[in-house]
Formats: sequence, C-alpha cells, structure tokens
Amino acid sequence: METESIDRYGVVGFPVSHSRSPVIHRLFALQTRQNLQYELLQVEPERLTSAIVQFAREGGKGLNVTVPHKSAVVNLVDQLSERATTAGAVNTLVFQDGEIFGDNTDGSGLMRDLTRNLKLDVRDAAILILGAGGAARGVLGPLLAAQPAEITIANRTLSKAEELVERFGAAGNLTACRFRDVSAVEGYALVINATSAGLKGEIPPYPEAAITPDTFCYDLSYGLTPTPFSRWATSRGATRSVMGWGMLVEQAAESFHLWRGVRPDTAPVLRQIVISAS
Ligand code: ATR
Repeated sequence: METESIDRYGVVGFPVSHSRSPVIHRLFALQTRQNLQYELLQVEPERLTSAIVQFAREGGKGLNVTVPHKSAVVNLVDQLSERATTAGAVNTLVFQDGEIFGDNTDGSGLMRDLTRNLKLDVRDAAILILGAGGAARGVLGPLLAAQPAEITIANRTLSKAEELVERFGAAGNLTACRFRDVSAVEGYALVINATSAGLKGEIPPYPEAAITPDTFCYDLSYGLTPTPFSRWATSRGATRSVMGWGMLVEQAAESFHLWRGVRPDTAPVLRQIVISAS
C-alpha cells in the first residue's frame, strides 16, 4: 500500500518555542483542507545554513524565518523577491526544483491588517514610525506604496533613522528625527511602534505630542496582555490602540498562499488565536 507523504513546513528561529505560527498554519490547513505538517526549528545562528539546507534536502517545501535570522537568510537564497530585497529581510522561504526562493510577507501582512481588518485609510495620512531597525525597514516599502501624506521615522539613534530615509526617501515625504523632536503640532493619524523596547520590558521616552484621541496606535509586537507601548498609548489618550496579532495572521496567510496557492480566511483564525492566547 502506498503511503501519502505529508508536505513539511516550519518556522526557523532562535528561540522559537513561543511562536504561534504552528497553530496558525495548522488552522489554515484544516480550513483549506490542505495536507501538511508545520514544525518548530530552533536553530542557533551558527547552524542556520546547514539546518535550512538539510530541511530542503529532506523534502521540506517551505519555511518561515523569524528572529534573529531574517537578514542573514537573504544571503542563502537563489532568488529574492523585490519586496524582500527592499526590506533587506526574508520571512518566507519556498523550496522548489532544487532552488530556494526568499520572500517577505511582513509588510503586506501589516497593510492587509490596517486596511482590510481595521478599515484604516493610509492614503494621505500622516504616519509616525517609532524605531528604525529591521521591523521598521520591513514595513516602510508597503507603507510608502500606499501613498501617505508623510512618514516620520523617530528613533533613539538618529543616524539609523536617517539611513532609512536615505534608503527609502526618493519620494521626499519621509523624514527622520529623535523622539524628543517629534512635532507637537502634527496630528498623526497612525503611530506604529517598530522598536523592540517592549520585548525587553522597556518603555522609551516615546513622544507624547504624537498622540491625540484620533490617533490610531499600532504595535508591531503583540502579547498575551497589552504591550508596554499599547499601555502607554492608551494612557496618553489614544482611543484606538492595537497589537500586531492581525499582522501576524495576515503575514502567515500570505506565506501559506505562496506555498499552497490558496488563501485562507484569516478572520476566524485571528479570533481563535487571540482567544486561545488570552
Ligand atoms: P534590529 O536588529 O532589527 O535593528 P533592535 O536592535 O532590537 O533590532 O532595534 C530595533 C529598534 O528598537 C531600534 O530602532 C532601536 O533603537 P536604536 O536604533 O536606537 O538602537 C529600538 N530600541 C530597542 N530598545 C530600545 C529602547 N530601550 N529605547 C528606545 N529604542 C529602542
């Protein structure tokens, strides 16, 4: 009797045990009746190349890539998508015909959450991004493509924000500043926290002037309880402050689509993982 082999996927990171990706992809697979398995691969940076090559050699079909490997993986792939090139980072690998294709679904995951789930109109909006590391770089391309009026990048280290402006600034509506120099007269429609401060339990001196009751606050991080940024935003008077659970599920759906050619319905999965996490 022939046994049907199950297509293998997974997420590679370090550490990775906290990842919600296996739950999300199993729910997608159930919903779309796809026969696959999804594993956690805890891999130290020194073993990254060999672990990915081995996974592919054993017949693995695709991987998600998470912290701290997203930039390193750029150098491992045979082909890189335009959006992964722009982001300078990869979060999705597809193994096909002996080649490795690298893509990045983070930015489009954020945009789908903002525009479809949260019904936020980014076009002509004034946007403030806090932080200028990998997370900010990953979402800048798709945010700029949505034609906001302007994007300000505020960062503790000014030079890193200026580097991003240089990298993405051709459109001219992108500026860099320190937290304390965020303009008090500017009414930001959207403030995105892209710092990793909350992960370390730190609350930087975020610019209070940025928040009005109408400001939509979005933390790219997420947690079982409100993140430090979410708490800060609410305490500053923001009436709408969300964590990045929606982006997490949307980027996963886009990866799933790349791998399986079907797009899952994210709404029930988002409800389920937020409920199961709380
Ligand atoms: P990456 O490897 O992606 O660059 P990172 O080093 O964790 O990630 O930093 C991501 C962002 O969080 C950076 O903008 C960083 O500010 P600096 O460029 O000044 O380092 C910001 N960040 C991290 N911890 C912070 C803190 N305690 N206060 C303010 N910003 C912080």
